[in-house]
Amino acid sequence: MFPCIRYLKTFMYFTMMKSNELIKKYLEFFKSKNHAVIPNSPLVPENDPTVLFTTAGMHPLVPFLLGEPHPKGKRIVNVQKCIRTTDISEVGDETHLTFFQMLGNWSLGDYFKKEALSWSYEFLTKYLNIPKEKIYVTCFIGDEDAPKDEEAAGIWRGLGIKEDHIFFLGKKDNWWGPAGKTGPCGPDSEMFYWNSDNKPKKDENPSNCKKFVEIWNDVFMQYNKNEDGKFEQLKQKNVDTGMGVERTVAVLEGKSSVYETDLFLPIMKRISMLIKKENKNSERIIADHVRASVFILAERVMPSNVEQGYVLRKLIRRAYIHAQKLEMQTSLSSVAEVVIETYSEIYPELKINESFVLEEIMNEEEKFKSALEKGLRVFERKIKDVKKIIPGKLSFDLYQSFGFPIEITKDLAKENNLKVDENEFGEELRKHQKLSRSSSEKRFASGLADQSHDTRKLHTATHLLHQALRKVLGEHVEQKGSNITPERLRFDFSHDSKMTDEEIKKVENIVNEQIKNQIEVSYEEMPFEKAKKSGALHFFDQKYPDKVRVYSIGNFSKEFCTGPHVENTAELGRFKIVKEEGVAAGVRRIKAVLE
Ligand code: ALA
Repeated sequence: MFPCIRYLKTFMYFTMMKSNELIKKYLEFFKSKNHAVIPNSPLVPENDPTVLFTTAGMHPLVPFLLGEPHPKGKRIVNVQKCIRTTDISEVGDETHLTFFQMLGNWSLGDYFKKEALSWSYEFLTKYLNIPKEKIYVTCFIGDEDAPKDEEAAGIWRGLGIKEDHIFFLGKKDNWWGPAGKTGPCGPDSEMFYWNSDNKPKKDENPSNCKKFVEIWNDVFMQYNKNEDGKFEQLKQKNVDTGMGVERTVAVLEGKSSVYETDLFLPIMKRISMLIKKENKNSERIIADHVRASVFILAERVMPSNVEQGYVLRKLIRRAYIHAQKLEMQTSLSSVAEVVIETYSEIYPELKINESFVLEEIMNEEEKFKSALEKGLRVFERKIKDVKKIIPGKLSFDLYQSFGFPIEITKDLAKENNLKVDENEFGEELRKHQKLSRSSSEKRFASGLADQSHDTRKLHTATHLLHQALRKVLGEHVEQKGSNITPERLRFDFSHDSKMTDEEIKKVENIVNEQIKNQIEVSYEEMPFEKAKKSGALHFFDQKYPDKVRVYSIGNFSKEFCTGPHVENTAELGRFKIVKEEGVAAGVRRIKAVLE
């Protein structure tokens, strides 16, 4: 038990704090500072080909950080669901998670350091009642790209933070972004909770001591890193902040691990009821992976061997292996039920998609079960000849023939005191020209919404396609998902049967006609209710802010969307559908290009 627990228990408020209360308090606090609350965006980014999942609250806001006006104004706040899978093998310890929630407030060219830091401090000390002496902060030390952040440090001093509670650190610790190769970034100032009764030792600081628990990051986004690696001043100075809900709740509830907070307790309790053998690490992995899978499935992603579907498959299968280890008596869907119950108040999409989520988990378990039996026999036979390191060829065969994600082979290897040669595995994957785990991870590492002209063109083509499909197939066609890379668009929509060649041709012709007609693309901001009445297309089960942007392509198409788009359809070129296939019951997928 952490020593601070005793200390925290004296603050009754902390022990009563619930995660939903933290979220509500945060939103209310920033509303009182004239911020507009915006709904959280989907985990699968709509127009960002460089990432598989939303990894921070700022992701969906990139166009606005770069200068596009936001329909809700210059001060924004929300709680955003995020997935980061780079640390998936660390999950099971006290703090690592694949799915987490990030509270954030943004200034889009409005307030800057003084207000951001003062409000952060006010919220931590007055609203969360964290004692001043427990708070430590860091500021950017300065280098050739940007000067030492004396301004931020001065503001902290003015707020009453003592000199020995302020650290200056380098880019590794006090600079955020760009999330990808290029994009908005800047120095940041982070706030830490000191998780010990003793004072930090002389050489201890947040970069080398885990007793400093990071709870909030205020980023001063005033630079844009360009293609040449140069940092140029942004048109506007922004503030981007992020507070991890799970971690902060652990601090507030005086818990040593996120898995002991109210965000996980009901899930952990259900798991312990279903298993015969106990193992803390495995129980946590099941909890984390099922939680993340539920949120991904609720966006109608299906387990597969590519992109988001592969991550989902990996999560379900890895949870399944651990459930087997603990002799769990039922399907993981029994754990998923509790996840849905626990989170539906803030994320109603979980309840709406409950039956799909539960069924897909059971389907994937079934598929894996039969592959697993065969795969395990192969694994056991083959490792007899392995000395220390499992060659890439074997882990690739297990992946290719039996659907073993590399993490599972790693888990199995660990049990047999062996290691996996991951580089070799990556090479095998590339050799077979499959969309590999390594390429997926490359996408995780990068990150900003792609603003290129090619992407914009395909985004506008997506609107044309949506409307053309409704004309040819009927008004029941609704968007179920969209993913755009600079090379192609991918559009999922509701429709029961395979499209005929004739239907495909008709859709292509309609889109190409709109391109030939050189139609202007424009947008208008309007209240949500008015936009709905205007007949603009939108997702029926998605939450929207009360003010939205509606994009029109002449009189042909009208859709809720934040953009960006091209200015005129003449910019698009020739539209061609390259593939039409089914992805789920009643859902078809089209891949198309502009030539
Ligand atoms: N975007 C910043 C982060 O993720 C706030 O820490």
